[in-house]
Amino acid sequence: MIYQLGDFEFPSSPQDLFPDTAQRPWVLEIGFGDGRFWPHYAATLAEAPNYLGVELSGVSLLKAHRRLRAAGLGNAVLTKLPANVLLREVVPAGALSEIVVNFPDPWPKEGHETHRLLRAPFFRLAASRLRPGGAVLLTTDHAEYFEFACAQAQASGVMHVDLGSPPPAAALETKYALKWRDLGLSAQHARFTPLAHPEEPGSGYARYPQEEQKVPHSIVTLPATFAPHDFTKFTARDARAGWTVVLLELYASLRRDGWTALAHVVEGELTQEVLVGITRRDDGQYLVRLARFGGPIITPGVKAAVGTVTEWLEGQGATPIHRGY
Ligand SMILES: C[S@@+](CC[C@H](N)C(=O)[O-])C[C@H]1O[C@@H](n2cnc3c(N)ncnc32)[C@H](O)[C@@H]1O
Repeated sequence: MIYQLGDFEFPSSPQDLFPDTAQRPWVLEIGFGDGRFWPHYAATLAEAPNYLGVELSGVSLLKAHRRLRAAGLGNAVLTKLPANVLLREVVPAGALSEIVVNFPDPWPKEGHETHRLLRAPFFRLAASRLRPGGAVLLTTDHAEYFEFACAQAQASGVMHVDLGSPPPAAALETKYALKWRDLGLSAQHARFTPLAHPEEPGSGYARYPQEEQKVPHSIVTLPATFAPHDFTKFTARDARAGWTVVLLELYASLRRDGWTALAHVVEGELTQEVLVGITRRDDGQYLVRLARFGGPIITPGVKAAVGTVTEWLEGQGATPIHRGY
């Protein structure tokens, strides 16, 4: 099954994701590519663990989905998201038995190490989401990244690095494994097991709430003269809270007295485009509220988008009456 961010709970339990097999071990594969690993791996086990696969490429997602369906692997959820977002916000603490990373993008150029997945913060997050006895399994052909990842795992202070165990046979049959083998490169394997399970809480994401009063909103009065004819891009940023909001556009409504702002929200690796409505109420005040359109996930940055629109309106002479974001 393919899930979008808005289909998950924050966090999601095995009962939410795999209702018929919730008691089975739960494996996460990061960057599954065209999905060859899981059918091979699951076939080596007495019963298929629950599988959550995360990938950035939409084309790969569809290929992997077809492959898993053909293999009859029903207890599998695939999603197109940055791995860290999924791990932090969706996977509960102590839930996973394995996190599998096969042939991760090596980002070999100098100065590009910050793009690498396997850095100390990842290992701390992984340790918090693994159950006792669980492990991160890394297989790669890239010697320099392999060393880097092992050093980062050590530096995290929460992982033991085991270089003595062989890779799962299935990890040597992925698309990239075969590609590098054809070029004569051999793969290296490490098993990282948690020495501790640190607390790494999620950021408190929520789906668009059912209850009206929980939708991020504000109420403002606008000056009688308010009639924006031009709008320039407006950026707000809170580095400590980790969000950037860019108000990209303001659209006037032809149906009623009001406008809609289009906001681009960036929080770490997660980006969302959301709409914020500015609508006249019967009492003459204006309601500034996150729109349901597109199924936004309510994150600190999305709440800040409503705040940013309110702030922009203040700059145009509005007076805030109530802030609910
Ligand atoms: C070199 S390919 C390896 C694919 C597959 N594991 C294999 O062995 O054939 C790396 C994959 O990781 C995915 N990827 C890179 N960064 C990611 C991230 N932060 N979250 C999820 N997937 C990611 C890429 O889209 C790409 O498909």
